[in-house]
Amino acid sequence: MKDREQWSSKMGFVLACVGAAMGLGNIWMFPWRLGAYGGAAFLVPYLLFVFTLGRLGLMEEFAFGRKQQTGAISAFENVFEKRGMSFGDKLGIIPVIGVTGVFTFYSIVVGWILKYFTLSISGELASGIESFPQYFGGFAGSSKTILWHLLAIVLTLAIVRLGVKDGIEKINKIMMPALFIIMFILLFRSLTLPGSMEGIKFLLVPDWSKLADPITWVMALGQSFFTLALGGAAMLVYGSYLDDDSDIPSAAFQTAIFNTLSSLLAAFVIIPAAFAFNLDPQAGPPLLFITIPSVFKQMPGGSIFSSLFFLSVVFAAISSAINLMEVPVEALIDRFKITRKKSVLIVGGLAFLIGIPLDLSMKRFGMFADFVTIYLVPFGAVLAAMTFFWIYDSSKAREAINLGSDSPIGIGWEIFAKYVFTPVALIVLVLGIIFGGIG
Ligand code: ALA
Repeated sequence: MKDREQWSSKMGFVLACVGAAMGLGNIWMFPWRLGAYGGAAFLVPYLLFVFTLGRLGLMEEFAFGRKQQTGAISAFENVFEKRGMSFGDKLGIIPVIGVTGVFTFYSIVVGWILKYFTLSISGELASGIESFPQYFGGFAGSSKTILWHLLAIVLTLAIVRLGVKDGIEKINKIMMPALFIIMFILLFRSLTLPGSMEGIKFLLVPDWSKLADPITWVMALGQSFFTLALGGAAMLVYGSYLDDDSDIPSAAFQTAIFNTLSSLLAAFVIIPAAFAFNLDPQAGPPLLFITIPSVFKQMPGGSIFSSLFFLSVVFAAISSAINLMEVPVEALIDRFKITRKKSVLIVGGLAFLIGIPLDLSMKRFGMFADFVTIYLVPFGAVLAAMTFFWIYDSSKAREAINLGSDSPIGIGWEIFAKYVFTPVALIVLVLGIIFGGIG
């Protein structure tokens, strides 16, 4: 295990985690939810969940991975075997399959984003396309997406192939600062548009009555788990490349801060601009591929700003995709002792092939994405929490979290982890099933 890859710096690790966290959840979910569930009032449950449950979930996955120095399958196996329970490795497969499932549909969306980025650069997006609902309707769910999907997989694969330090860490060190710089430029543009004030009000004027509605809390809870990529494997594999000197509580806190900041930035870029052009902000794919392009079409200098915008979305999505892909890639290397090169080719090839039927039908795409995000990923989060805080033991878990930390967590967090966090992870799963998806 001595030759396991490692991050080269603390900053590199945190940036990679911010990259993993900051993704489509921040861009096409958070802004709309913030506005729809009470504006500033939504921030109360959201920040509460992110900085208690979410932060703890990050600490758990980082420490679980670091302690076992391996990805989820073997990490689960080691813990269960010590307890004389031999089925542990089978349980660890569930979070790995869940995250691989996310990678499978996520890379299709990365393909759509790459297409929109090239449409922006060529100027077509701002001047050539008549109707975006029609355009997107004719593109997504059709064979036109297959090549873009392939390109997304090849790009992701090329980075993951280079390894943890030379691929994942290096690219995040470039993409994350660039992403924040671009977001600030776009923020300035958006907030100086005439009419953007209505959007700012939509985001900020608190509707406190929404806090009395349980759905606000449910959505904030789901958002906090998905946005921090808590599914029992993705942050765990990044943690497995940490050394014992790394400060996990502080890394988890920084990841949560930067991820929240990027969500807020995305909200203040997107919503005021949509309001300035009298467009109804929506959630999900329509926001990114219909509403936002319509904004740029009407905006002076639309081509430049749409190129910048879609470039930042490419960065956000690719930095998440490489984290998602690293999970099955590491699992194959670990279990079958194959090279990284072989592993990325197998994972990339399979994800592409499984994705083709999803490329061709939005209905199948939606059903697949729902199954993965409603059942598999939250189930993976529950399994990881149970395994680490109950089977491995909460006091040993706290010790593993605190190793190398200047600001160790106290006994209160340990009790919280065992008796609040773990049951809440289960509640997230159940609520997702009841509501048809909350993450
Ligand atoms: N955390 C990633 C996102 O929000 C997966 O898109």
